[in-house]
Amino acid sequence: MEKIRVENVSYSYQNQYQKIQAVKEVSCSFEAGNMYAITGESGSGKSTFLSLLAGLDCPESGTILVDGDNLLEMDRDAYRRKQVSMIYQAFHLFPLLNALENVMYPLELQGLSRREARQQAAECLEEVGLGEKILKQYPKMMSGGEQQRVAIARAMAAQGKILLADEPTGNLDSENEAHIVELLRRLAHERGYLVIVVTHNPEIARQADQCITMKDGRMV
Ligand SMILES: Nc1ncnc2c1ncn2[C@@H]1O[C@H](COP(=O)(O)OP(=O)(O)O)[C@@H](O)[C@H]1O
Ligand SMILES: [Mg+2]
Repeated sequence: MEKIRVENVSYSYQNQYQKIQAVKEVSCSFEAGNMYAITGESGSGKSTFLSLLAGLDCPESGTILVDGDNLLEMDRDAYRRKQVSMIYQAFHLFPLLNALENVMYPLELQGLSRREARQQAAECLEEVGLGEKILKQYPKMMSGGEQQRVAIARAMAAQGKILLADEPTGNLDSENEAHIVELLRRLAHERGYLVIVVTHNPEIARQADQCITMKDGRMV
């Protein structure tokens, strides 16, 4: 099922001196239940493209359709809150919340009681392979691999079924990397998520259902 369709989308950054066209007339579509990899050299527009899909930036021209609706005409705050989760290389957990509280956060935003949120958050953490021991730990006490699993558990706790990951394993060793990629694949194949992973790693790209390469803002 087609989840996102991108039609002829361009985006540029402009300051007083110059205009940098970061994404150029990109068209493609993404289906739920698949994991996609986006590769390409540094500066090729990958992160910019993800932020357009996330509704964090608006295309300067072209359209992005989500379930057939134009993202530009939607309530983008609601879209970001209810449909999309992002995962970053640097994890971006809340440093003052422990693992359990990090995952409870989106659940409490959805209006669940503390008790329900705690229950569901613990289940999400268990699914990503983190046990009892980690629940009370703060991000800085965890390894990189553990932090990224908490980030994935938090994404699972959010309502959205679109998961955008920007170099999610850039800070991990190869063993942890393999676990994270396996988790992302499972979310796509078993849970029906649309997963889009930006990566430099050819190994991850090979595990994706489809690999897209960007060069100078274009898909090649
Ligand atoms: N905030 C910004 N202001 C100006 N130029 C930017 C900004 N972010 C990215 N760029 C430029 O846009 C282009 C694409 O960047 P980016 O999307 O970050 O590429 P990638 O993620 O593939 O490394 C690059 O030329 C980069 O220098
Ligand atoms: Mg980038």
